[in-house]
Amino acid sequence: NGSAPHVASPPLVRKKLMGYVGFANLPNQVHRKSVRKGFQFTAMVVGESGLGKSTLINTLFNTELYQPKEVLPPSAERPKTVAIESISADIEENGVRLRLTVVDTPGFGDFVNNEESWKPIVEDIESRFDSYLEQENRVNRQKIVDNRVHACLYFIQPTGHSLRPIDIEFMRRLHTKVNLIPIIAKADTMTDEEIINFKDRILNDIRHHNIHIFQLPTYENEDEEALTEQEEIARKIPFAIVGSNQLVHTPDGRQVRGRAYPWGVIEVDNEDHCDFVKLRQMLIRTSMEELREHTTAVLYENYRSEKLLGMGVAQDSSVFKEINPALKMQEERTLHEAKLAKMEAEMNLVFQQKVAEKEGKLKQSEEELYARHREMKEALEKQRLELEDKKRRIESGRPLTPEKSATKRNRFLRT
Ligand code: GTP
Repeated sequence: NGSAPHVASPPLVRKKLMGYVGFANLPNQVHRKSVRKGFQFTAMVVGESGLGKSTLINTLFNTELYQPKEVLPPSAERPKTVAIESISADIEENGVRLRLTVVDTPGFGDFVNNEESWKPIVEDIESRFDSYLEQENRVNRQKIVDNRVHACLYFIQPTGHSLRPIDIEFMRRLHTKVNLIPIIAKADTMTDEEIINFKDRILNDIRHHNIHIFQLPTYENEDEEALTEQEEIARKIPFAIVGSNQLVHTPDGRQVRGRAYPWGVIEVDNEDHCDFVKLRQMLIRTSMEELREHTTAVLYENYRSEKLLGMGVAQDSSVFKEINPALKMQEERTLHEAKLAKMEAEMNLVFQQKVAEKEGKLKQSEEELYARHREMKEALEKQRLELEDKKRRIESGRPLTPEKSATKRNRFLRT
């Protein structure tokens, strides 16, 4: 596959984390085996050129991990990403290892014709599914490397308008293959109010175009604190993000990661300034397991069964669904929806038939009424003419019509 990801080989960085991350909690939710093996998590950044994708990767890793090959002076322009590149770091917390990989994709929108710019990205995602499928089909399945994309951060230009056709096209191509997480890029270019309105517009567009973005699940048995945290994160979607790895001084003398402007400093890690903290919390703490699970149970399974069916390998559906409740539920829902749609179509047909019948009857009685009306009118007209004639004759003293006179004569003769 020509689009196979070009994996940059950065040094593995054992990072000291600035504060609590939280993935050490994951073993409580998943197998013990994962503790030994560690976790693999892959996120992808997608969006138009120059929206700050590479910058966000550095901000997430909290380092200039992702650097141009030759070190450039600070004033130099950050080079464009021209190929799909992966970058990984091993993070360790309480003895639990997390291998975090971020895939940077070249920004699109630079060409006169941007119609198929989604293609290389979709192909990259599919080639990762293919590689997993190939490993699953091997006799020795001990060491499966999971390079599948578990989350896709989709960068939206901070226009303040609705989503653009190119964004809609991209998201529609991607949403069946990855967990889409929409992001408003460079949120420091908008006011708080503009961001609120823009978020509304984006969500409306997403709903209108039936695009499925990642939904945070809520579990009933979760404690109140966790639920509140989930709700707070969910409310921020699409996340308004400011990226920067530069340390700047605030007017009150603190040194923070942010962007300095003549009128003040935007802090990356300040929740009042942008949603970066919430995005990181969701990716690394609260929803990592759900993102991985949804990728495996729904997105990958759909891809796999389509692929296998395409190759003529029919699934043993009963066994397959037994072990895959998400697919089973989805199938049941599809069947139910199809049943409802059929009922609706039948009801519509009956309704249309009844309306047509009633219309026919009405038309018939209208015609009958009209004919009767015409007959009565003609009879009345005839009567009127006769009366007028009679009146004229009486007035002019002329005898009545001959047959009428004859009748009179006969009557006279009989008496
Ligand atoms: P491509 O490689 O072309 O796809 O670009 P990219 O999306 O990776 O953008 P990159 O991270 O290279 O950033 C482009 C420019 O935007 C740089 O000058 C960054 O300093 C700047 N930038 C990045 N993030 C932000 C942000 O949150 N706000 C503002 N105002 N500028 C940003």
